Amino acid sequence: MQPVSRREALLVGALGLAGTAAGAAGLAWTLTSRGAPATGAALTHPVELRSAGGRLALELQAGRGLLELAGRQATALGYNGAIPGPTLRLRAGDELSIRLTNRLAGPTNLHVHGLHVSPQGNGDNVFVRVDSGETFDYEYRLPADHPPGVYWYHPHHHGMVADQIFGGLFGAIVVEDTIPIPAAMDRVLVVSDTDLDAAGNVRKVAPTERMAGREGAIVLVNGQSNPRLSAYPGQRERWRLVNACVARYLRLQLDGQGMQLLGMDSGHFQAPAPVDEVLLAPGNRADLLITMAAGESVLRAAYYDRGSMPGMMRRAPAGRVPADRPGEVSLATLQVAGQPGAGPAGLPPRPAPADLRRIPVAAHRQFLLAAGMGSMGGGGTGMAAFTINGRSFNPDRTDTTVAAGSVEEWTVVNTSSMDHPFHLHVWPMQIIAVNGVAPVSPLWQDVVNVPANGQVSVRVAFKDFTGRSAYHCHILDHEDLGMMGAIEVH
Ligand code: C2O
Ligand code: CU
Ligand code: CU
Repeated sequence: MQPVSRREALLVGALGLAGTAAGAAGLAWTLTSRGAPATGAALTHPVELRSAGGRLALELQAGRGLLELAGRQATALGYNGAIPGPTLRLRAGDELSIRLTNRLAGPTNLHVHGLHVSPQGNGDNVFVRVDSGETFDYEYRLPADHPPGVYWYHPHHHGMVADQIFGGLFGAIVVEDTIPIPAAMDRVLVVSDTDLDAAGNVRKVAPTERMAGREGAIVLVNGQSNPRLSAYPGQRERWRLVNACVARYLRLQLDGQGMQLLGMDSGHFQAPAPVDEVLLAPGNRADLLITMAAGESVLRAAYYDRGSMPGMMRRAPAGRVPADRPGEVSLATLQVAGQPGAGPAGLPPRPAPADLRRIPVAAHRQFLLAAGMGSMGGGGTGMAAFTINGRSFNPDRTDTTVAAGSVEEWTVVNTSSMDHPFHLHVWPMQIIAVNGVAPVSPLWQDVVNVPANGQVSVRVAFKDFTGRSAYHCHILDHEDLGMMGAIEVH
């Protein structure tokens, strides 16, 4: 038995964990502070940490330990002993300090996905490497006009991103509205997927699954399998959904309920759009208003065909698949009953989103996304090469150099037979056209799905920050396999 060191004991104490690390060498905790009940239990929310006086400072311990997942005892990863990690609630103009301690066996780091903050130094710098046992202090400052919305954090050490997120390392960030939207509840719903082997360890995935983009059979909402939510008829709730799955697309439906989409990622519509479904590619977020109608509804991820590698069969979708609706996964069950409350208050006016469509463009660029088994592919490992403009990611090479302050138009062309969600750090993208079709109103996202054999053009204003950062496919297996490039703005 491994004795608990004083440092470990202090850590365990500091995190308020129920157990100790005795007998579980290499584990950072043995029980979570927050239970993760089995299927059908009431939905819980991660711990929420809120900024005060323009500042939020916190510690995140990335570690491996025992917790309950989908009613099973599992050995998984987590921040501060939980899946998801704490939800961070911030305001535009805030300073965010995160002391990251790596209690994993290998290297990690931290990325604040979607936040418009500096990529330099100890900011949102994905080139930082935090080795096992090390601590790193991240400092982020949100501009005073930072868009409100839901964002998230996750590790970004190239080559290990998919495994670490699949293991359980992620959490949500909310940047609050300046004028609040009246809602009976403001829920953050982080959807993730994973898989456990017979011993309860997060399953190692095969090379073919990495090429396809792994989908875990266990689909979780806030770390829970098919939780239950209840509400009163007539109530309006705000649901902020995060797709934290490595590769799974979420085509979200909530039958029988009125859904209005306020925005995706950092983008917000001037008027909420009534929707029947919302497609979240990996990394995307949706900001939804639900006006509750009496009855029971299932929040489901309907089947979505994202294509496959040539010569590979698309496997049957994994997860809780209802027999009568093939290809679907139940995420949560909503029960609306009781005395109808007063109807929801009117929505405050919202500013018109920015629009780059009439702004002169300083440069046009093309990015070719390719996945191929060519003779050069994967250096003879049998692994396909995942490239952007014919090259695999190299952290020492800068692929794209942009003049600070300019607006550029990028065309992202997908030459493969599967979708790739294209993500750019720091600077949000306005969608100009998808397969030649222009959206009616301005759409801003930080992950844009590029359909199989299709193309998307976007415009980006490289304002406010300079420095080196990255763009990549947010099927994180593809990113780890090389479908990423480095960008420098100066
Ligand atoms: Cu959500 Cu570069 O990542
Ligand atoms: Cu990101
Ligand atoms: Cu991809």
